Amino acid sequence: MVATSTRSPEKPDVLVEVEGLQTYFLTRGEPMRAVDGVSFKLHSGEVLGIVGESGSGKTITGHSILGLVEPPGRVVGGSIRFRGRDLLALSDEELRQLRGDAMAAVFQDPMMTLNPVLRIDTQIMEAIWSHHRVSKVEARRRAVDVLRLVGIPSPEKRASAYPHELSGGMRQRVVIAIALVNSPALIIADEPTTALDVTIQSQIIYEMRKLCREKGTAMIWITHDLSVVASLADRICVMYAGEIVEEGDTEKVLGQPAHHYTRGLIASIPSGSQPGEQLPQIKGMITRYPAADQGCRFRDRCPAKTDLCDTRPPDVRVSDSHSAKCHHPAHASAALAQESVS
Ligand SMILES: Nc1ncnc2c1ncn2[C@@H]1O[C@H](COP(=O)(O)OP(=O)(O)OP(=O)(O)O)[C@@H](O)[C@H]1O
Ligand SMILES: [Mg+2]
Repeated sequence: MVATSTRSPEKPDVLVEVEGLQTYFLTRGEPMRAVDGVSFKLHSGEVLGIVGESGSGKTITGHSILGLVEPPGRVVGGSIRFRGRDLLALSDEELRQLRGDAMAAVFQDPMMTLNPVLRIDTQIMEAIWSHHRVSKVEARRRAVDVLRLVGIPSPEKRASAYPHELSGGMRQRVVIAIALVNSPALIIADEPTTALDVTIQSQIIYEMRKLCREKGTAMIWITHDLSVVASLADRICVMYAGEIVEEGDTEKVLGQPAHHYTRGLIASIPSGSQPGEQLPQIKGMITRYPAADQGCRFRDRCPAKTDLCDTRPPDVRVSDSHSAKCHHPAHASAALAQESVS
């Protein structure tokens, strides 16, 4: 199915539903609230970009869905549903069965996924066999097919290579091939192209988007780089200090950013500046307020801060499919600014 940005959240093809997710690191002292009340829906075939500065909770959100949060981290609140199934109620074995089959992950470092001492074809075939019983001939055929699909030239020949014999870009394509080989309904891609040069990055982004469109695969693309999701995502969630502070269709979030944090991120995208000109950066770093603090978490860095910002920011509906958690959103009309999203 082809995603459109006008789909209604009530449509029945909600694939992932995250509600009030809280994932904390329970170390000595006050818990580190890495993810704190995150909610979003993802529909089949849709690409959702999760963006935010380092430490905003993007990876831990992805890991929570994949069941990969390790102690002292723990999901302490909220729910995650995948095709209606409560993922937090599944056993480790049930989660393992889902991972690599119905949902797959691509991480920044391909060597986190690849085994350096095994041939590429062996690794792809093992990924198939951990979920499906097929013959060796069939598994090898599928391995070569999926390598071709992700744009690896001479896939029959390359299939016999070891990871170190491939370039970084080719290795990441192999990881994407492994993610795709069992036709997942969901791919969670966490900064998968950040380590690659810009040309390879845009090729891979273009191809991933095309594959998702063709196969109806939904994708969560995690990045600190707004310009990456601009060309890729149907919708964007902007994360700050464990919360989603703005969410909406890509063109709305980028065209009419309402949260001052999003505006700061957009202002620091290089394409808007003249060569040699210094880019504006958001001043300061993420402040970790105590749990009892109700105020906006961005307030000490925000150019629009008032005393009101020491109180809980409302979820303001900026337009139909666009909302921001802010007392003073830009671009929200006066009437709409009064209206909180329930
Ligand atoms: N193992 C851990 N122990 C304690 N705190 C952790 C651990 N892993 C992550 N955190 C904390 O959780 C917060 C969110 O981390 P997360 O990795 O999700 O950030 P991120 O948005 O993915 O950042 P980046 O862009 O750097 O990848 C961070 O502030 C981090 O300090
Ligand atoms: Mg991360």
